[in-house]
Amino acid sequence: MARRRPGSGSPAPLPTGDEKTARVRAMFDTIAPRYDLINRLMTFGLDQGWRRGTVAALALPAGSLVLDLACGTGDLSRLALRSGYRVVGTDLSAGMLRSNGTATPLVEADGSHLPFAAGAFDGLVCGYALRNFTDLAATLAESARVLRPGGRLAVLEVDTPTQPLWRAGYDLWFTKAVPVLGAALSDKEAYRYLPQSVAYLPPTPVLRTMLRDAGFSAVGIRPLAGGLSQMVVATRTGGP
Ligand SMILES: C[S@@+](CC[C@H](N)C(=O)[O-])C[C@H]1O[C@@H](n2cnc3c(N)ncnc32)[C@H](O)[C@@H]1O
Repeated sequence: MARRRPGSGSPAPLPTGDEKTARVRAMFDTIAPRYDLINRLMTFGLDQGWRRGTVAALALPAGSLVLDLACGTGDLSRLALRSGYRVVGTDLSAGMLRSNGTATPLVEADGSHLPFAAGAFDGLVCGYALRNFTDLAATLAESARVLRPGGRLAVLEVDTPTQPLWRAGYDLWFTKAVPVLGAALSDKEAYRYLPQSVAYLPPTPVLRTMLRDAGFSAVGIRPLAGGLSQMVVATRTGGP
């Protein structure tokens, strides 16, 4: 199905299905070595505070076992380790896993087919990956499956500001400057795709319904920094 670019009337060449999985994997393999540097520049370092908030939102006892889904280079894993959690990381891209400097066990896998037992984890974090998943519903269902009843989910994702001034700044920076920065320091195609990929995100009410359908309750979705990012928290249904 053709998707539309945000703010554009023409159909965008955003891939779907197996083509999306292959392109996303190849893209992250390519940008892995400079991923962390560009992330910091792109968000002026603000992402670290949002990541700390995401890990804190798990609110689990120290020693709990946490899955970092689509862990990439391991930013959330590192913070989860610092909070006293035990962590396992998983990602589709072998390149991102090679650039992952954490001491956690790493598993190469697609989020829609996780090689973990049901109820294996107390918590799950996921940073900036929802829009990259080819089958979001299947990935949310797998996330629920590998969490024990009462287990906690905390997800960080990009968002689109609604306030006009924030929106203008966001459009200028994210859709104009970031692709130039990415092209200069890393890969042109990848950093052109990044702002376009926001179109894959379901609207908030739809995401809320998808989480409930997957087996989560107490779903909370809130904007961060005027909507530059968003945090999603939920509890695996069936807990105490
Ligand atoms: C924007 S990066 C985020 C990495 C890391 N979570 C962070 O917060 O910096 C998105 C990550 O999602 C991974 N990814 C994309 N599709 C995936 C899938 N179907 N299953 C597992 N990981 C996937 C990519 O390889 C990449 O590492």
